[in-house]
Amino acid sequence: MPQSIYHPFKVEQFLSEMEHGVTYNFSESGVHPMSLQGLVDLAEIDMDRLMKTMIDYPQVNGKQALRDKIAACYPGATADGVMITVGATEANTLVVATLLEPGDNIVCFRPTYEQLSGNARNRGNEVRWVNLIEEEDWAIDATALEQAVDDKTRIIHVVNPNNPTGRVLSVQDRRRIIAAAARVGAWIVADEVYAGTEREGDVETASFWGSYDRVLIVNSMSKAYGLPGLRLGWLLGPEDVIAQSWRRHEYASIAASMLSMELADHALAEPARSKLKARARRLIRTGFDVLTEELARHQGVFDVVPPQASAMSFVRFNLPVTSEEFSMRLLREKDLLVIPGSNFGVEGHFRFSSALPEGHLRAGLARLNALTLEILEGR
Ligand SMILES: Cc1ncc(COP(=O)(O)O)c(C=O)c1O
Repeated sequence: MPQSIYHPFKVEQFLSEMEHGVTYNFSESGVHPMSLQGLVDLAEIDMDRLMKTMIDYPQVNGKQALRDKIAACYPGATADGVMITVGATEANTLVVATLLEPGDNIVCFRPTYEQLSGNARNRGNEVRWVNLIEEEDWAIDATALEQAVDDKTRIIHVVNPNNPTGRVLSVQDRRRIIAAAARVGAWIVADEVYAGTEREGDVETASFWGSYDRVLIVNSMSKAYGLPGLRLGWLLGPEDVIAQSWRRHEYASIAASMLSMELADHALAEPARSKLKARARRLIRTGFDVLTEELARHQGVFDVVPPQASAMSFVRFNLPVTSEEFSMRLLREKDLLVIPGSNFGVEGHFRFSSALPEGHLRAGLARLNALTLEILEGR
């Protein structure tokens, strides 16, 4: 066996090892998922037709009607510039496999969802981190960005809105990223899975598509649509790059599932599409209000930059424990799961997902508050 260092995907390893069987699971990043029956009702799916779906290999790059619908959401995009993948996860993996050559570096922001960067590190490419600044509402460190990008930079990776902060890039930060990429001819890979989950207002986070010629967009049904179990995502970009990714897709998975493509096609047809997003926003808004109300019970302990989008809050805490100790005590003593900030490279925080049914959320938060009190009392 070759002796190489493998970097596991810390957040997903933590989730896959811990989340099953826990009663109060506040560790997920999406909204409370829909049931199949819920989707059938909401999208008024004709069950007789659905039942006649052949469980065959689907079109490998994705069902034509589905790719048409997705392309229509991005001005100037073509269906051949869209590939359907097994979640955004596969799209991120294919991007790295398609674009990176030995010696290339990629520039990423921290804290973020470290899937693309982890894949790059495991291929031996250098990852350069640029911090997001909490005191400035998670704005990017513009000087660090300038210093990080050089002529070996092949990708600048953005997650917008971001996981775990829920921050939407300001117009100024977007311009800085585009200017930095243009300076060296790098690609901007924009993971936009949280677009549509805005907490205030109904204006959807603007896509990077169309803002620069070297842009690849990653998106999926998992977050704004509340359908993570479909395991269906997409990669959008110039047709030649998508064709190269398709060759990697044949190795990675051949295709996403036939049934998932059918269901996604229904979910993305209006009015189902708008209804699903409205449902996500409702859950996100109520959930965040409940979270802040409950955390305010302890003065000076918790603080959070309000997320502009997503079901997640990256909560800062002032307690004499590490983020890992706090989350492991919550799990063992209170049957409740949150993700420690250390999994995102940031101590003194935890990621909490609150877009869940209110009764369940309040019951779980009462447990979190009980442990907080115990720690404050030295227990
Ligand atoms: C930013 C980001 N990208 C991609 C994914 C994976 O999404 P999918 O379920 O579509 O594979 C996640 C999941 O948490 C995420 O937060």
